[in-house]
Amino acid sequence: MKLARLRDQARPGIALTLEGMPIAAQQGDTLLTALLAGGAGYLRDSEFGDGPRAGFCLMGACQDCWVEVEGMGRIRACTTLAEAGMRVRRG
Ligand code: FES
Repeated sequence: MKLARLRDQARPGIALTLEGMPIAAQQGDTLLTALLAGGAGYLRDSEFGDGPRAGFCLMGACQDCWVEVEGMGRIRACTTLAEAGMRVRRG
């Protein structure tokens, strides 16, 4: 899955990485938006069934967007703002 930015595209850019892959994001993005709009494709593998997961509720309730961020541990990508320099691993 890749999200496409349809509006609000003029915010300053920030750079982070997902497992070493450069991700171009914008200030104010949630980490989930930054990763999916940046080409991550998915965020984690499900413990309960087949297939990759890329978030579901987008409001911190479903736990479908866990990722690991260096220095922060395991967090929900949908309720965390992306920050420049974040080093993220799929959860
Ligand atoms: S997408 Fe549901 S908790 Fe993040």
